[in-house]
Amino acid sequence: MSPVAHLYLHLPFCSSRCGYCAFVVNVGALGRRDEYLDALLAELEGERAAGRIGELQTVYLGGGTPTLMRPRRLAALMERIRPHLAPGAEVSMEANPESVDGPALAALRRAGVNRLSLGVQSFQPHLLSALDRAATPAQARQLIACARAAGFEDLSIDLIFGIPGQTADDLERDLAEVLTAGPDHVSWYELELKPGTALARAGTPAFDEDEGADAYRRIVGGLEDAGYGWYETANFARPGHECRHSLAYWSAADYLGLGVGAVSTVGGERWRNAAALDGYLAALAAGEAPPRSREPLDADDVRRERWMLGLRLERGLPLAWAGPPDRPDALARLSAAGLLHHDAGAVSLTREGRFVQNAILHELMDYA
Ligand SMILES: C[S@@+](CC[C@H](N)C(=O)[O-])C[C@H]1O[C@@H](n2cnc3c(N)ncnc32)[C@H](O)[C@@H]1O
Ligand code: SF4
Repeated sequence: MSPVAHLYLHLPFCSSRCGYCAFVVNVGALGRRDEYLDALLAELEGERAAGRIGELQTVYLGGGTPTLMRPRRLAALMERIRPHLAPGAEVSMEANPESVDGPALAALRRAGVNRLSLGVQSFQPHLLSALDRAATPAQARQLIACARAAGFEDLSIDLIFGIPGQTADDLERDLAEVLTAGPDHVSWYELELKPGTALARAGTPAFDEDEGADAYRRIVGGLEDAGYGWYETANFARPGHECRHSLAYWSAADYLGLGVGAVSTVGGERWRNAAALDGYLAALAAGEAPPRSREPLDADDVRRERWMLGLRLERGLPLAWAGPPDRPDALARLSAAGLLHHDAGAVSLTREGRFVQNAILHELMDYA
């Protein structure tokens, strides 16, 4: 099994659960965060000993709320990762505005984190409240300024559109705030009402489809006019600031995920650590691997996943890598409709096609 170049570390602690969030998150368990980092280090050591950690091109510390971990313990984690980093490696971390301050950010920067992804979601108080977000717009603005002051030259902001109650004016205000803040990278996803979340349980209606389409076009146009490249369906970057970790994932590269709920895909095999904190901590404390489930990946799974991920990218996908679509005859039809570029070697969507990417994917492929 060849060693991986991309590592994800899941730091699951949160002070409360946001109404839309279906991630593997632990609320009210902060007392166990040091124990968790010990377990994570033990899992890292197990993977190192198994020869699965190669020269790392990218590392991503995601959550949860990584900024709830103690900065000194995060620095110790970074110490253990440093010997594996390739020169110029991208080391990203997610940060929530209410849980971090300038000195903590400066400590993270010194510890080797060189890319920060700030979970802002919106700058409008009523929309933050609709999402049950803990931070205020003022805290978000302050965090952006602190991150720059701490020396972060690779700064990303996460936003959501399609929030219940969001108007076209709200969107304009969020766009204007983003452009004023001037991050290097923006992730701007449409709200997904995931089963089991508070928003879904409350019967929140989905955003109107036409309004959603208008909002998406406005976001793409507004960010492109300001010099951001629309390099992935929901991701935008100034030249050279594309997220290398996400690009590896969208290119279906092998990666290792450590921590509760984390997924790994290595050498055609996929496994997922169980989500329960207790089971994870107990296994690692006993010197065992975390409880895991394995998912076999056959050639069709790989081909369908490559199409799903590759069509999201502006650069499209090489056919030699992705394999044929389930319905090859649809290529000519979509191409004639001006939605897709297709030659012998590659397929990519036209600008218009990118706005209806999901419908195109389902024209080309069968998904269960
Ligand atoms: C792993 S999450 C959490 C990161 C961080 N804890 C935070 O709250 O900002 C990363 C990003 O995914 C996006 N996201 C999470 N759940 C979503 C949902 N249901 N619909 C749309 N975007 C979502 C949000 O923009 C979020 O910042
Ligand atoms: S802070 Fe982030 S990870 Fe935690 S509950 Fe909210 S969205 Fe989910």
